[in-house]
Amino acid sequence: MKVRNLMEKDETALKEIIHLANPHSLNHPQPDLIYKRWGEYYFQNCRDHCFVVAEETRDRAVGVILCAPDTRSYQKDFNQNYYPSLQRDLDELDRRIPGILKEFELEYYRKKEAQVQDWLHPVLVRKIYREYPAHLHINIHPEYQRQGLGHLLVDQLLTHLKEQGISGLHLIVSSDNQKGISFYKKYGFRSLFEIRPRGKTGIIYGLKTTH
Ligand SMILES: CC(C)(COP(=O)(O)OP(=O)(O)OC[C@H]1O[C@@H](n2cnc3c(N)ncnc32)[C@H](O)[C@@H]1OP(=O)(O)O)[C@@H](O)C(=O)NCCC(=O)NCCS
Repeated sequence: MKVRNLMEKDETALKEIIHLANPHSLNHPQPDLIYKRWGEYYFQNCRDHCFVVAEETRDRAVGVILCAPDTRSYQKDFNQNYYPSLQRDLDELDRRIPGILKEFELEYYRKKEAQVQDWLHPVLVRKIYREYPAHLHINIHPEYQRQGLGHLLVDQLLTHLKEQGISGLHLIVSSDNQKGISFYKKYGFRSLFEIRPRGKTGIIYGLKTTH
């Protein structure tokens, strides 16, 4: 396996990995919306900060780490320039199959960029964005999980962010994602805050690039 930057040719593999790694996507009436919500922006705008782990022979990506190095400017750009097209797709799906999206999904997807500022006191939000300005999403193809590939991708991202002079990165994980929580703890991420969006619990983890 080798780690390299996410490339234009990886889009099909990226969609497949995000779909297969997320149980929510497997049961979704229109799974491409999941990619559109959680993958496409990074693919289009942040490839320099995103990495894949790929098979040596076929160069096929089997895992991906997506990152925006500055979450504040990412949010602004996502909301102003990317979100309107996602919103059109949601409206279209609603019109075509009324009621197909469950209530929580509507809330989840209709919200513009839902990040830490929606749930935390502004002082804590400032602390996170100052100390851990980048954020990440990571997905490994189910057949390749628990083989050390997630660790390889975080290693690569940390080296990259450090080179860019970025002090740290954060992420939000649902408290029912035991696999994810175990992974972040094992890697050395620090649990920063708990949040309760829509009655569910999420945990914000952070990691300094100098750890
Ligand atoms: C979470 C995830 C990225 C970890 O990547 P990975 O390549 O499987 O992890 P690694 O092999 O580098 O690290 C292994 C560690 O991760 C955790 N882990 C991975 N798979 C696990 C599983 N099936 N059950 C419990 N813990 C698991 C454990 O801490 C494990 O250490 P252990 O084997 O000593 O118990 C991967 O499982 C994944 O893509 N999950 C689905 C998507 C997801 O939840 N992403 C995070 C959203 S915030």
